Amino acid sequence: MCGIVGIIGSSRISPRLIQSLLNLEYRGYDSCGLAILNNGVIDVRKDTGPVHQVAEQLRFSEMDGCAGIGHTRWATTGTVTRANAHPHLDNSGEFALVHNGIIANYRALRQKLQHAGHRFLSETDTEVLVHLLAHKYAETGILDEAIRRMCRELEGTFALAVISNHEPDRIFAARHESPLIVGIGTGENYIGSDFNAILDYTRNVIPIHDGELVILSRDSVSIRRLDTGEKIQREFVKLNWDPELSQKGGYPHYMLKEIHEQPNTVEAALTMDPEKLEAMCIKIQNARRVYLIGVGTTFYVALTAQYYFRRLTGRHCIALSSDEFEHVAEVDEHTLVIAFSQSGETYDTLHALRYAKNAGSHTAAIINVLGSSMVHEVEMVIMQQSGPEICVLSTKAAIAQIVIALRLALEVGKATGELSTHAFNDHLEQLNKLSTRVRRVINETKGFVNTIARETKKIRNWLFIGRGIYSAVAMESALKMKEVTYHHAEGIPGGFMKHGTIALIEDGFGSIFFLPPQSEANLYHHSIANAEEIKSRHGFIVGFGFGEPSDLFDHQIRLDDYDPLTAPILLLVLGQLFSYYSAVVLKRNVDRPRSLAKSVTVA
Ligand code: F6R
Repeated sequence: MCGIVGIIGSSRISPRLIQSLLNLEYRGYDSCGLAILNNGVIDVRKDTGPVHQVAEQLRFSEMDGCAGIGHTRWATTGTVTRANAHPHLDNSGEFALVHNGIIANYRALRQKLQHAGHRFLSETDTEVLVHLLAHKYAETGILDEAIRRMCRELEGTFALAVISNHEPDRIFAARHESPLIVGIGTGENYIGSDFNAILDYTRNVIPIHDGELVILSRDSVSIRRLDTGEKIQREFVKLNWDPELSQKGGYPHYMLKEIHEQPNTVEAALTMDPEKLEAMCIKIQNARRVYLIGVGTTFYVALTAQYYFRRLTGRHCIALSSDEFEHVAEVDEHTLVIAFSQSGETYDTLHALRYAKNAGSHTAAIINVLGSSMVHEVEMVIMQQSGPEICVLSTKAAIAQIVIALRLALEVGKATGELSTHAFNDHLEQLNKLSTRVRRVINETKGFVNTIARETKKIRNWLFIGRGIYSAVAMESALKMKEVTYHHAEGIPGGFMKHGTIALIEDGFGSIFFLPPQSEANLYHHSIANAEEIKSRHGFIVGFGFGEPSDLFDHQIRLDDYDPLTAPILLLVLGQLFSYYSAVVLKRNVDRPRSLAKSVTVA
C-alpha cells in the first residue's frame, strides 16, 4: 500500500535508496521514484514500472547527494502515470514529499491552494501536501512548524517524508494512521514504512506513533508531538529478523520460499511466551463474548480458529471479517476482540479494534510485525515471530496464526476443564509434531501438486469445497487461487451445494475437495456425497485428503501422516502449493499479483 523510505548520511545514498525501494516494492509496484538533495537542488526522478526498470532507465544510481527520499506506489488517488508517481515537488522546487495514505479532504485543499496561485501537475492527493507545505513555510519560515501546521489541516491518513533545500541536513517525517519507523545507523539514519526498508542497514528501530513528527539528521533523531511540538523520548528496539529472510535464497519466488519456511514458522509460533499465553487465556475466560477478527486471509484464519475454539473449549468465539465488524458486533466492556494481522497495519482491522475499544471492549492481537500500529493499540499482543513475509500472498504468517489460535484454544480448554489433562497432553504432543508433518507434506507432495496444476491449467472456474473446519480451509485456498492465478475460485461449505451452487456444475467444471480424515465420519461422508453429486454431473474433481484413495476423483493427494486435530493445516499447505504451481504454469506474477498490495492501510 505504497512504501516510503528516507536516508540521510554523509556519503552518496542513491545505491541504498534503490535497494530500499526494491525491498519495499511488495507494498506497491506500479511506479516509483527518488528525490535527492544535491548542492541545494532537489533532483527528482520517477516513472511507472518496476523499480529495477525505472532505476535503470532514469539512472537512479548516478544521483548524487547524502539526503533523499523514495517511494513505491500502489495507486489510490489518480491513475498510474509518471505525473502521479512520487516524490512530488512544490512549484518552487524547494520541497519534495512522499506519502502513504489517503487525504480525504484533498479536493477542498487543492481548490484553496489553486486560488492562492499553486499549479498542480498530478491528480494525486499527495501533491496537495507539498503545495500546502510550501504555503505554510511561506507563513512561518520554520520547516518543522510548517509541517505541523500542514498536518493540522489534513483529514485522512498519512505517513510522509519531506526534504527541502531550506534544511539540507535533515529529513522530516510525520505519521497519522499509516505505518512509519525510524532506523538508527552509524553516521546515517533512516525512515521507512516498515523494516524491509532498512533491514539491510540496521537492526535498531524506533517505531513512530500516530500524531508524531520525526526530524532526522545523520547523527540524531528527534521525535515530537505534531500537535504541541513537545519532545518525546523513546528508546530503540533491536530487531532480530535475519536479513537473509528478506532474500529469495535460491527459490524462484518468495511465495515458494515462504511455503517452505512454514515448518520453522510453526515452531517459532509455538515458542510463544507462556505468561502471555496464560494471560490471554484468562482474558478469554473472563469475557462474556469473544470475537475473532481479520480480513482476507486473516478472516479465514479467524474462521478456522472459531472451529478450534468450539471443539476444544466448547465456546462459540465469533469469527467476523474486520470490515463488517462495526455493522454487526455487540461491543461493551464484557467483549474481547482478538485480531489476527500479519502487518499489524491493516486499516479494516485497526478500525474494528478502535471501534471496539471506544465501546469499552477489551482488545488483543496476534501480530507478525514488531512495532506496528496494532502492537500499540491493543491491550495484549502475542508476536507470531514468523519473520518477514515478502510475497503479497500470505502463507507462512497465516499458518503461524492458526497454530497460535489452536495453542490458545488448547490452553483455554484445559483451564475450563473442557479438555481432560490426558486429552490436552495428547493434542499438545500432536501439535508439536506439526512442523515435521508440514515439512513432509511440502517435500513429498509438491511434485504431484505441480502435475495436477499443469493438467488443470485450462480450468478457469473452480469450486473449493469443505465441511466443518475444512470449509474455512477451502475458502482460504480459494482466495489464494484467485489472487495468484486470476482464475475464478469460490470456497464454500459442502452444505451449500444443493441449495444453489450445484447449478454451476457441467462437463469439466473444476472442484477441489478438502476432505477430513475418515475418522470424522459425518463430515467425511457428507463431503463424499457432495463429490458424487458433482461426478454424476460430469464435473472434474480433485481430492485433497487422508488415507486410502478413492476412484471418485480425477486427481487426488492423500496424506498418511496426520492427526485429526492438525489435519486441516496440512490441507491448507496443499491448497497453497496448488495455487502456487497453477500460477507458475500460467506465468503469473506470483509474488506481486495484479492490483494487490501487501498491507492494505487504507479504507
Ligand atoms: C491474502 C492476503 C490478504 C491479507 C489481508 C490482511 O493472501 O495476504 O488477504 O491477509 O490483507 O493483512 P494483515 O494480515 O497484514 O492484516
